Amino acid sequence: PVLVVDFGAQYAQLIARRVREAKVYSEVVPHETSAADLLAKEPAAIILSGGPSSVYEEGAPELQAELLEAGVPVFGMCYGFQSMVQALGGTVERTGLREYGSTRARIADRESTLFNGQPEDQSVWMSHGDSVIEAPEGMRVTATTSGAPVAAFEDDERRLYGVQWHPEVMHSTFGQRVLENFLLRGAGLSADWTASNVVDDQVAAIREQVGEDRVLCALSGGVDSSVAAALVQRAVGDQLTCVFVDHGLLRQGEAEQVEQEFVAATGVDLVVVDAKEQFLGALAGVTEPEAKRKIIGREFIRVFEQAARDVVEDRGDAEHPVKWLVQGTLYPDVVESGGGSGAANIKSHHNVGGLPDDLQFSLVEPLRALFKDEVRQVGRELGVPDPIVDRQPFPGPGLGIRIIGEVTETNLDILRRADAIAREELTQAGLDKEIWQCPVVLLADVRSVGVQGDGRTYGHPVVLRPVSSEDAMTADWTRVPYDVLAQISTRITNEVEEVNRVVLDVTSKPPGTIEWE
Ligand code: XMP
Repeated sequence: PVLVVDFGAQYAQLIARRVREAKVYSEVVPHETSAADLLAKEPAAIILSGGPSSVYEEGAPELQAELLEAGVPVFGMCYGFQSMVQALGGTVERTGLREYGSTRARIADRESTLFNGQPEDQSVWMSHGDSVIEAPEGMRVTATTSGAPVAAFEDDERRLYGVQWHPEVMHSTFGQRVLENFLLRGAGLSADWTASNVVDDQVAAIREQVGEDRVLCALSGGVDSSVAAALVQRAVGDQLTCVFVDHGLLRQGEAEQVEQEFVAATGVDLVVVDAKEQFLGALAGVTEPEAKRKIIGREFIRVFEQAARDVVEDRGDAEHPVKWLVQGTLYPDVVESGGGSGAANIKSHHNVGGLPDDLQFSLVEPLRALFKDEVRQVGRELGVPDPIVDRQPFPGPGLGIRIIGEVTETNLDILRRADAIAREELTQAGLDKEIWQCPVVLLADVRSVGVQGDGRTYGHPVVLRPVSSEDAMTADWTRVPYDVLAQISTRITNEVEEVNRVVLDVTSKPPGTIEWE
């Protein structure tokens, strides 16, 4: 793999994604990893990420010089660039010329490995206080900016490269080209990491892992569990049984989609458990968000455990016991739990992966190395239907956390109808790609006065929460065109008589989370 050494900002994952967009496989590693451990992974190239520190600060993460001497191509960005300078003996100084945001870089050598075929003047995104004023010996300076006399350098012989800016962010206009030049020209890698190769590799790995045993999968209808199930199905066919727990908190048409379209496309053996009454019963009278989440999580585990026992009884035999459980764990979860950064627990996330460890199964996690968009590509490759592959993220607790107030059959029904209209209109307007997701939230505890038909009404508002995001960690509210909003509002208030007001949430994340509860 190409290893992206994480110097502690949020940039490392983004860099890893950009590398993969160039069809080269990459992984993120914490900077604390020893050089020996890093090199033991036999990296095809190493990228040093940006980071929040100054190389001068006490305790600032240091680049281990062995990494530059191992004959592995290295590309440093921002802090990574400065750490190379420090390790190789150049000069980094606090010039007082801070550069933040977009600036112009002047490319001094357009024949160079990184800048080949690019314009002399390009927009780059900077975030630095210190500047490199003298390049290390043997490094050729290939670009400058007004605040950084040495803004890029390279040494083709040792295959060492660096830029002061952040090529991974979109505001660096030629960033992706610079990165590709490093990977393909500098490091001489080939662009052959594709969805179809991922499928082939994973199918082989799953077969090897599970042998003849039976496998169980908790299917939620979301992208991750669906694609994971389809992969395992491709690998071991009818050794797999999927369990779909219908908790009654799904949106209109979703359960049917899983039961019919997904099964038709993949041929999985599916067990549907209708647990609507059990969930609604457990949620009766509960309005506190964390309490709802905990109840939904707990009931889910109960239902699933029972279903698992039934499957073991029905499908397993002594020679081929049900031994494996499929989980749709994605790469960002792997990085986050391995990175050891104590991120605050804002909401107790229950996804269907949150099963207890005392379930007597071992895990099959075929998506562990993939980002969400890659999971979608793999899903398409496997023939998973578009409505499932393109499905926007939907929380495990479903509509249960989009009803502010009590989760009742009546409230669910109101919200389902309003949500279906919003989804239909946003799709119609061609906005699905631009919008990360658009929760529709029913304020069941709030009532407002309206006039509908020829009478006064005392109904409920619904909130539209369209957000744009790359990874749901941060988000901005999507500027949906007014006429689309108007159409949604008109239709909801006309067609869902319990709702007499439609409001728009214009809060970014942070401070607001995406979901209301
Ligand atoms: P928040 O509300 O934390 O949501 O900004 C971030 C993303 O996570 C989704 N979400 C969940 N997904 N189980 C899930 O599987 C959950 O309990 C859960 N809560 C929030 C949310 O839809 C958004 O995409």
